[in-house]
Amino acid sequence: MKTLLLNKNEIDIAADIIKKGGIVAMPTETVYGLAADALNGEAVAKIFKAKGRPMDNPLIVHISDIKQIDMLVAEFSDKAKKLAEKFWPGPLTIVLPKSDIIPDEVSAGLSTVAIRFPSHPIAHELIAKSSPIAAPSANLSGSPSPTTVRHVLADMDGRIDAIIDGGDCEVGVESTVITLTEDVPTLLRPGGVTLEQLRAEIGEVKVHPAVLKSLGKGMKASSPGMKYKHYSPKAEVILLRGSEQGFCEYIKENSDDKTAVLCYEEEKDSFKNYIVLGKRDDEVAHAHRLFTCLREADEDGYTRIYAHCPRAEGIGLAVYNRILRAAAFNVIEV
Ligand code: TXA
Ligand code: MG
Repeated sequence: MKTLLLNKNEIDIAADIIKKGGIVAMPTETVYGLAADALNGEAVAKIFKAKGRPMDNPLIVHISDIKQIDMLVAEFSDKAKKLAEKFWPGPLTIVLPKSDIIPDEVSAGLSTVAIRFPSHPIAHELIAKSSPIAAPSANLSGSPSPTTVRHVLADMDGRIDAIIDGGDCEVGVESTVITLTEDVPTLLRPGGVTLEQLRAEIGEVKVHPAVLKSLGKGMKASSPGMKYKHYSPKAEVILLRGSEQGFCEYIKENSDDKTAVLCYEEEKDSFKNYIVLGKRDDEVAHAHRLFTCLREADEDGYTRIYAHCPRAEGIGLAVYNRILRAAAFNVIEV
């Protein structure tokens, strides 16, 4: 299949493709998504094929108007309304009991549906001109999520109908996912809206244990995505936890020409092969750059990446959650 490259003035063409049951990569404020008409099960099935995604991993439904929510969910609770009012449009996904209109392909057989109202103007216009849109990140299953058109082309050229170029994505990691379908609201995936912000708005929010740990035997995956390998570049990623000095010494003793260090701007002169994540304390920049850096390491032919263990606070929690998975939970104390 030939993949059309569209610009922001050609959203009508993309909307037509979606209405006819095709699939289109669209920019959002978090990462690029692979969009299909959320109410058309056959179209949604094409997303799973293009990504090589396991069919039991449900998709987020994206809306462009809060009025669309009534037909998609069985219940829009007061807590959900509070979160929606505060954080939508923006990088927050809320899991709610689903209505009967949601195709099985979207919910993967669960009784719930994940809803997100993105703030990106192109995503907004595309949804408004077509339909509520089911969209996972527009990467091949397992790879780092795409934050530029170049990343989308690398994974999806020839596999999808079109890509809309919207430049670089602002946040850089996927939306925060919270479920309101359990006794206590539970964070399933940290993202641009922080745990601290959620708690300030609705009080108690639990953190699902899988956010910072590998799912142990017998542990339930509240979000099916938790159990799959994720965000992995081809290179092996290893996290180093400890002092700055320990970090530098470990790398000096355990590197070769094919090893790169994912480091902070301030320390780059200590290393021969490095990729800069951002300034040390700029966690917003770390989130923005993380997936680009992981892909860059592969493009530059590195086979191993050493990285710092992030702080588990604010948006740092999202960076930590993604890089832990990229590293397959391989953390060395230094
Ligand atoms: O920022 C984002 O959320 C991006 C952009 C494109 O909007 N989308 C995205 O979708 O990251 P995806 O499919 O890559 O990740 C969705 C995550 C998966 O881990 C999935 O298991 C979980 O949300 N999820 C979807 N529906 C769910 C549900 N009903 N219950 C629990 N988890 C759900
Ligand atoms: Mg994804």
